[in-house]
Amino acid sequence: MTIDQGKLGELVGTFVADLGATIAAGNVVVGHRLGLYRSLAGAAATADQLAQRTGTDPRYVAEWLRGQAAGGYVSYDPASEQFSLTEEQAYALADPDGPLYLPGAFVLALGALRAESQVTDAFRTGAGMGWHEHHEDVFTGCEMFFRPGYLANLTSSWIPALDGVDDKLSAGGRVADVGCGHGASTVLLAQAYPKAAIRGSDYHQASIDTARKRAADAGVADRARFEVASAQMFSGTGYDLVATFDCLHDMGDPAGAARHIRQALDADGTWLIVEPLAGDVLADNLNPVGRVYYSFSAFVCVPNARSQPGGYTLGAQAGETAIRQVAEQAGFTRFRRAAETPFNAVYEARP
Ligand SMILES: C[S@@+](CC[C@H](N)C(=O)[O-])C[C@H]1O[C@@H](n2cnc3c(N)ncnc32)[C@H](O)[C@@H]1O
Repeated sequence: MTIDQGKLGELVGTFVADLGATIAAGNVVVGHRLGLYRSLAGAAATADQLAQRTGTDPRYVAEWLRGQAAGGYVSYDPASEQFSLTEEQAYALADPDGPLYLPGAFVLALGALRAESQVTDAFRTGAGMGWHEHHEDVFTGCEMFFRPGYLANLTSSWIPALDGVDDKLSAGGRVADVGCGHGASTVLLAQAYPKAAIRGSDYHQASIDTARKRAADAGVADRARFEVASAQMFSGTGYDLVATFDCLHDMGDPAGAARHIRQALDADGTWLIVEPLAGDVLADNLNPVGRVYYSFSAFVCVPNARSQPGGYTLGAQAGETAIRQVAEQAGFTRFRRAAETPFNAVYEARP
């Protein structure tokens, strides 16, 4: 065996970065929960000052700050021994309601990793694990992970990219948000289109309970209503828009969902399908974004699909051809990519 020391060094270097990121993930979540980033965004601080401001222990906070500075999430000035956030660090780490909030992704990742032993067993047996069986951080982390993208794009670019939908919803219209989780997209639609009647649904009772609360807190509970129902069973017909946000690939029976969506749509209605951005062939997805999605997929998406009847396991990197096939099999005749971001593919399917 001949070891190429250069290649080995490269692999170990990648590993050290990954190991650091893995254990740093817990620290990012600590910073999120205790408001450490938020406080630091307000003003630079030594460890003692930050601890005092946030009601935390100075020794723990000192270690946290050092690790954060080593990872480039926090800046350090050796002369004053103060830590601070640059504009960019504050933008990405300190505003949970902003257009980019990276700690939410770590809440989701840590929550998903709690299922490691069940997932290891599932690899052996092929059994499924439903979305509802995960730790609750998966549900809130998912909301935090996806909401900034919806906030930045949904009503400003994705809906306007669909044929005639913005006009219909501005005038009224009926919308079904299927697999809505905590209802982040449902609430944004209700806020943007006050005359539209919006019905969110998800098979997971606890997510629907939270979605109802989110709608009430946002003052849109009159027009955003929710039900516990699978994508193959949700109620209502004559919808102008049915939307599935980052959930079609999670389903064991996406074809059944597509058929149900088709019959629930008005003849001139639109199915908005938002899915993780992916190419059609594996080689296209062997990049950092693909790695994120495949890794979540093995822990959450594939196990959920396996837990449901239907026999599909699209996974989180299904690609346009696979999604198109699901839509066309259900009788949708017009299918196109209407928009995309570095993370999302946005498809429009029409009967
Ligand atoms: C990745 S989350 C996305 C949630 C939400 N749409 C969002 O973008 O924040 C996937 C959601 O699909 C839901 N789900 C999975 N299988 C489903 C099914 N067969 N019918 C309805 N919802 C389903 C899960 O409960 C979960 O809320």
